[in-house]
Amino acid sequence: MTDASDGTLFAQVRDSANRADPYPLYARLRVRPVARQDDGTFVASGYAAIRALLHDPRVSSEDLPPAEHPPTGNPVKDWIVNPLKDWVTDRHRPFIFRDPPDHGLLRRQVMGQFTIARVQGMKRRTEGLVAQCLERCAGSRHFDLVDDLAYPLPVTVICELLGVPREDEPRFHAWATQLATALEPESRHDEALRARNTETFDAIADYMRDLIREKRRAPRDDMLSGLATAKDPQAGRMSDPDLIATAILLLIAGHETTVNLITNGMLTLLRRPRELARLRADPERAPRVIEELLRYEPPVHFRTRVARAPIPVAGTVIPEGAPLVLLFAAGNRDPARFPDPDRFDPDRADNQHFGFGGALHYCVGAPLARIEAEAALTALAARLSNPRLAEDPPPYRPGASLRGPKRLLLHIDGIG
Ligand code: HEM
Repeated sequence: MTDASDGTLFAQVRDSANRADPYPLYARLRVRPVARQDDGTFVASGYAAIRALLHDPRVSSEDLPPAEHPPTGNPVKDWIVNPLKDWVTDRHRPFIFRDPPDHGLLRRQVMGQFTIARVQGMKRRTEGLVAQCLERCAGSRHFDLVDDLAYPLPVTVICELLGVPREDEPRFHAWATQLATALEPESRHDEALRARNTETFDAIADYMRDLIREKRRAPRDDMLSGLATAKDPQAGRMSDPDLIATAILLLIAGHETTVNLITNGMLTLLRRPRELARLRADPERAPRVIEELLRYEPPVHFRTRVARAPIPVAGTVIPEGAPLVLLFAAGNRDPARFPDPDRFDPDRADNQHFGFGGALHYCVGAPLARIEAEAALTALAARLSNPRLAEDPPPYRPGASLRGPKRLLLHIDGIG
């Protein structure tokens, strides 16, 4: 074991050998709440430091121009300073990678479409979709929670919200699967993969361009029609490139995360049969269970930023231009903030986790994600008869940031 100042700790976090249980590494990182890694990246893992950096205007979500940061050959560094660069520099940058004032203008328009009525309206529908997924598995003794429910559900939900015609949904499912690979550092140096992702971005963009034209011609009651026709008092009408970038962002951000909340959630509950039984007996517990899951096993472990100026924080100074990792999942287990942080306790008070990030970039889809997770986990708790994990730990997908099982095979006696 190396000491806490080990500048390779974050590389170890990214190593797939540590995917099933990165938490001991996070505890070692937290000894220095903001730690410089050997490659010059700074990793914030303490709750207070992450919070301070989330609110610091010197911390940028924009990728740096390539001239300023030519490729270094270090996949994580290249990825942090130029996230999804293949896509965003030539086309339009989605607002998750933008700073004020553009970020706020675009975000406000999206929030205007995520109305309470629209999101709440999806509650019934989501419950129906979960029921359909379970019907399809009726009579079976095995069940892969990822393929059979957690993966397809969010794409269908976001397609319906955006107003993607039902017959085109299978294409969205395929695109979402492909683009998930672009989010991981390793993709930066896989030329074939990058080429496929660029093709996929282009295919979605072409598709969206036509769909937006159609929505402008004959608007319906859906988010894309709203975004295509609404006029913001300050920003005016959203441009086509911004609309396309926004739609792709909503597709990816809503998909690759919700799948992990549902699967990490069920995994956590199956490891604690008493908690699963309590949820089955009292579905009203679901919101508390889900908040605790977002703290204890969050779908998004970290997000990246760049320091735009020297930033003193937690006894160190992050230099201007340094890539920065906000390790939300480590902050969520910080004993200085959460008593007994490694205990899964849905009844804990004051659960201000970083599951949905924080500050300016706080997740716009949080209410929708909560609805989807609640529909899925309450139905699974209620309807699966005697569920058992077929493998523990399950195999994980490669991602260290969007972390979750590749499959979650369950043995069941039936579906009620
Ligand atoms: C931002 C988590 C579901 C859309 C974020 C951020 C996190 C997050 C941590 C902050 C990113 C940052 O600070 O850089 C999650 C989790 C989800 C989820 C854990 C599910 C369990 C969704 C859904 C949607 C969505 C369903 C949309 C349909 C977005 C968007 C942003 C975002 C657009 C960017 C916000 C901004 O930059 O202002 N999400 N998300 N998310 N999320 Fe989610």
